[in-house]
Amino acid sequence: MTQQLLAAPSRSKASETLDPQNWDEIRAQAHRMLDDMLDYTADVRDRPVWRPIPDAVRARFHEKLPQQACDLGDVYRQFTDFIAPYATGNVHPGFMGWVHGGGTVVGMLAEMLAAGLNANLGGRDHIPLEVERQVVDWTREMFGFPVGASGIFVTGTSMANLMAVLVARTTALGQKVRQRGLGDEGARLTAYTSMAAHGCITKAMDIAGFGSDALRCIATDRSHRIDVAALRERIVADRAAGLEPFLVVGSAGTVDIGAIDDLRALSSLCREQALWFHVDGAYGALGILSPALAPLLAGIENADSIALDFHKWGQVPYDAGFLIVRNGDRHRETFAAPAAYLRRETRGLAAGASWPCDLGPDLSRGFRALKTWFTLKTFGTERLGAVITRTCELASYLQARILAEPRLELMAPVALNIVCFRYRGPDANRLNGDIVIDIQESGIAAPSTTLLDGQLAIRAAIVNHRTDACDIDALIAAVLEFGARRSSGDDGGVVTVERSPPLAL
Ligand SMILES: Cc1ncc(COP(=O)(O)O)c(C=O)c1O
Repeated sequence: MTQQLLAAPSRSKASETLDPQNWDEIRAQAHRMLDDMLDYTADVRDRPVWRPIPDAVRARFHEKLPQQACDLGDVYRQFTDFIAPYATGNVHPGFMGWVHGGGTVVGMLAEMLAAGLNANLGGRDHIPLEVERQVVDWTREMFGFPVGASGIFVTGTSMANLMAVLVARTTALGQKVRQRGLGDEGARLTAYTSMAAHGCITKAMDIAGFGSDALRCIATDRSHRIDVAALRERIVADRAAGLEPFLVVGSAGTVDIGAIDDLRALSSLCREQALWFHVDGAYGALGILSPALAPLLAGIENADSIALDFHKWGQVPYDAGFLIVRNGDRHRETFAAPAAYLRRETRGLAAGASWPCDLGPDLSRGFRALKTWFTLKTFGTERLGAVITRTCELASYLQARILAEPRLELMAPVALNIVCFRYRGPDANRLNGDIVIDIQESGIAAPSTTLLDGQLAIRAAIVNHRTDACDIDALIAAVLEFGARRSSGDDGGVVTVERSPPLAL
């Protein structure tokens, strides 16, 4: 080897690492950013919920790949001027669209700490993994799952549902499915859910190789809960036709109206028929923390697996999806794949028999557990449960306001925290679609829409812990104002709605 090759490459100039050259400067900049984000949350009511994005702002995000360095302060100004003002708005108490959590300052700070540690939670022996294991234990405790249950953070419930379908598939076909694929035996497997279930269940069946036709979408009753008698009949009919039912997916909080299936009846049926019982509890499962709602979830403790999102009712900042599986062995058999470079040791950094990469498709994984751990420890389950109860009380208040207003019509029973309603008038689907867009563009509130029996409904999902009665009043006032304007053919002008001060929780 030549002398030249043995010489270590010189790397003494600070400019050659990506760390700051001036720590005092970055500290001042960092404190400014932190203060700004605290103000962003503290002053949230001073801003519109959402605002349309001007073309000039959108165009800024079509710049070429930057090759040269740019001052952090300048980049940050682009954030304050062109990114922060045009976010989704779910931090705002007037946001009621889809099912979006509001996040908390505690979660935000924890996310910063997690980024500082830059931990990779695919595996190895470090305390961040113990933090995730602790949240797994706590989730197990919440749902009364046994010690052998396994759990893992994922992006969201869409991913958790897909993984549950895969665990159910391995349980039905054995581990050989991982080498040989579904084969003739797999082609006979059928799964069941309700017509009100989230579309990601259909997608999961498609991605898992069964095809969406192998999912039977069973009719619901008037409360949007799965018709258990119809489900039983379909299972029996499919067996008689030579098919192999293997999985039932119950909903704990349907996406349209928040209906909770009769989970106890579903668990009994699954036990009797030897089927995997999975619960899509994307947002409803955390209702278990509310003493008022927990009884509605009776039977969830018998599930084989539960998918849920801490980023919805749990108020953890995005993303913090979660899957818990009663039988951890089944879970590991589905995903564990030995590799020389992932060898486990009895000591050293590679210690530990079971790593999260054995429980899902991801190897590199961020520290989602930390913001969830901080949220659970800082607020405690009682306070989080009280927030959940309160969102349902606000939904009842919204329901009462709708029922008291002849110009409005309630479109579905209010099971939890989702209220579907509309402004009465001719061509109501178009009218209400326009009203929702008008309200979103006004910045007063942000409801979304859904279709119920072909009728377009204004859908308000109250998930955010900051939402108060004044936000419900502002929504109602805006619907009535825009409804009247649209009905009279006037679709222009600014609408302002006065919000009374919020009441403390
Ligand atoms: C009932 C239900 N299931 C699944 C999902 C999908 O969850 P995620 O958006 O976290 O993937 C949602 C989202 O709102 C939902 O409400």
